[in-house]
Amino acid sequence: MRVLRNIVILTGAGISAESGIDTFRSSGGLWEQHRVEDVATPEAFVRDPELVLRFYDMRRAAIQTKLPNAAHFALARLAAGWPGAVTVVTQNVDDLHERGGVMSGLIHMHGEHLKAWCTACDGRPVWRGTLIERPACPLCRARALRPDVVWFGEVPYHMDAIHAAVRAADLFVSIGTSGAVYPAAGLVRMAQGRGATTLELNLEASQRSDWFDETRLGAASVLVPAWVDEMLGRAFFERSGTRSDSGTSVSAAEKRGKPKI
Ligand code: APR
Repeated sequence: MRVLRNIVILTGAGISAESGIDTFRSSGGLWEQHRVEDVATPEAFVRDPELVLRFYDMRRAAIQTKLPNAAHFALARLAAGWPGAVTVVTQNVDDLHERGGVMSGLIHMHGEHLKAWCTACDGRPVWRGTLIERPACPLCRARALRPDVVWFGEVPYHMDAIHAAVRAADLFVSIGTSGAVYPAAGLVRMAQGRGATTLELNLEASQRSDWFDETRLGAASVLVPAWVDEMLGRAFFERSGTRSDSGTSVSAAEKRGKPKI
């Protein structure tokens, strides 16, 4: 049986929901309040830059008032205590994983609210203020800054690194994402194709639940710490040579000869 060592965790808006950051597709979510075509495409930025910049300025200001929740802290605990590699691939543009304590192995595939992208010099300065007044780039002085977020129709960042991590994963875990947006939604398939065990932690069944070996439904602030406790308990018992799974049920994955989650 394959040893469970490398873990890749894909996170989405659901992990930050309990911190007070709107998800995109829930009822009342961000894409019910704003049309994607108006604020989240390169064409929208050309057509009405003020609308787009105002939208991201508000979001950038809002996330700075939010705090990480128990799920973010739990992932940091896992990253610090797990003996193998832990890679957190996030679709979120907030910085709650960082503030929750994930120090390395974090990939922002859809960019970051707290950076601006200068389309003149390709620099990505840290940015906490507003962009609506079209400030000069601190690196090259051009007035060509835009939010450093990946809009619809643009290619997500760091795909080579993400694919390498997913190909090497023994366990792929998806947390708080609807599975509506590619290429993120397809990563579970790639992981499975390489023999990884797959687990989904989400408030409700997602569009991709059928693709996972196991789905656990509930709030991230409850499910994620409980799962991390299981994983760290397992690592501890494996290190000490004691069985870690006494009294727990055999998962569907284990029946198929994959590592138990
Ligand atoms: N705990 C766990 N899951 C939750 C919670 C919670 N407290 N609250 C909501 N969820 C789940 C929802 O049930 C939903 O399945 O999180 C998921 C959020 O889905 P989306 O709003 O579609 O967000 P996400 O999957 O991150 O969107 C992907 O779409 O518009 C783009 O670029 C944007 O990165 C984003 C991408």
